[in-house]
Amino acid sequence: MPNQLFETQDGSHSILSAQFGVAYHSKHGAIQETQHVFIDAALKFKAVSHTALSVLDIGFGTGLNAYMTLLEAEKSSLAINYTGIEAFPISYQQATDLNYSTLLKTENFQTTFLEMHRADWATPVQLTDHFQFTKKQIKFETIHFVNQFDIIYFDAFAPNAQPELWEADLLEKMYQALKKDGVLVTYCAKGVVKRTLKAVGFEIEALKGPPGKREMTRAIK
Ligand SMILES: C[S@@+](CC[C@H](N)C(=O)[O-])C[C@H]1O[C@@H](n2cnc3c(N)ncnc32)[C@H](O)[C@@H]1O
Repeated sequence: MPNQLFETQDGSHSILSAQFGVAYHSKHGAIQETQHVFIDAALKFKAVSHTALSVLDIGFGTGLNAYMTLLEAEKSSLAINYTGIEAFPISYQQATDLNYSTLLKTENFQTTFLEMHRADWATPVQLTDHFQFTKKQIKFETIHFVNQFDIIYFDAFAPNAQPELWEADLLEKMYQALKKDGVLVTYCAKGVVKRTLKAVGFEIEALKGPPGKREMTRAIK
């Protein structure tokens, strides 16, 4: 069975993964979730004190987190160096069906959105004046970065679908990947995940979640 496109409650598309049997975003709203968890709680939070930021996206998926980051970079003249990790990319055809540019009223950036999907793997590309982008087709488990990122968007499928991605060894790699004072955000607010984040060295904040969700987590190195 192929991946299925569906509409979330704010009208924006998401994908139901055939491989993992779960959705790429909250059914309450994909755009709302990305805005709240990744853009507001991490990107804008760090932009208060920085004009240039490096972001690690785990994982790239539909490209919505990357796209909304690019739009924010253009709006706020933030210089972004963005790395998206994805082992199982969606098809280009499926990317062309996603309605993000229409809902965000950014049709003038639709070509740029599709350029992200068309970009060669492991080759940096300057997509706008403010946004440098690299996509890596590797498994999350194999990442190895040291003191490189200001922000990690940890957007893996939930622990009940992929428990192995929420264990200490991968969270430890993400801790290593961040610079001091770097920030990891996730929609997940499970007690065990917060305890593991703490155990690998993060300071944890429980923040109000996006619509439909009570809490989310921000972890600071
Ligand atoms: C929740 S979705 C990401 C949603 C994405 N941020 C977006 O805006 O569409 C999780 C992603 O992780 C990818 N994935 C699952 N297991 C992986 C693994 N072990 N290594 C790399 N990518 C993986 C899936 O293919 C999927 O794209």
